[in-house]
Amino acid sequence: MIIRNAKNKNKDCNLIYSLSNDPLVRSNSFNTKSIEYADHYKWFEKTVMDKNTLFFLVFSDESEEEFIGQIRFKRECENSNECVISLSITEQFRGKHIAKEFLELGIIELQKNWKKIDTIIAEVKDENIASNKLFEKEGFKLVSRVNTYKLITCSVYGGGYKCKVVFANCTSFERRAA
Ligand SMILES: CC(C)(COP(=O)(O)OP(=O)(O)OC[C@H]1O[C@@H](n2cnc3c(N)ncnc32)[C@H](O)[C@@H]1OP(=O)(O)O)[C@@H](O)C(=O)NCCC(=O)NCCS
Repeated sequence: MIIRNAKNKNKDCNLIYSLSNDPLVRSNSFNTKSIEYADHYKWFEKTVMDKNTLFFLVFSDESEEEFIGQIRFKRECENSNECVISLSITEQFRGKHIAKEFLELGIIELQKNWKKIDTIIAEVKDENIASNKLFEKEGFKLVSRVNTYKLITCSVYGGGYKCKVVFANCTSFERRAA
């Protein structure tokens, strides 16, 4: 597996668009609606350029013929010691026990880029068994469970702002650096 930064290019934009509209990825996200290409394009351009987002694409090898998935880390500001992770694997590579290696590759890149981060937060729906298992096995600890409304910084396509959302039995994990 190889990992690299997302580039502001059509190829990367389109790979992420297909993955983001995958039915499982949508249903495991907090915003479950399908995404319009124009909204995605704006969001992608902004996110790739955002200095508080690390955005990686993973391929099976250097030829980049097989796209495995994406990992992103988002922090509030340069001084943050924590960040939120988001990751997804394409349907053809799911269920093959590669998510651990995939996640670890992402964490290595995170540590190279943002040295102040000591906590990674993952927000996972209860029904997302693969993701719950993955984070637990990687040493993420349960910090909170939310069954009701919660104020979060919601990443809406085209701009981030505070909004009220319903977390459907969401579990929040975090992992601190040793
Ligand atoms: C979450 C995700 C990255 C995990 O990747 P994956 O390739 O499916 O996971 P793996 O094959 O490496 O398996 C990880 C664990 O989950 C289990 N698992 C995988 N798919 C499963 C399924 N459909 N049902 C139950 N368990 C499952 C595996 O058995 C494994 O557990 P084990 O180590 O105890 O055997 C991937 O499913 C995905 O991209 N899902 C859509 C997006 C998403 O949910 N992102 C995370 C949001 S928090």
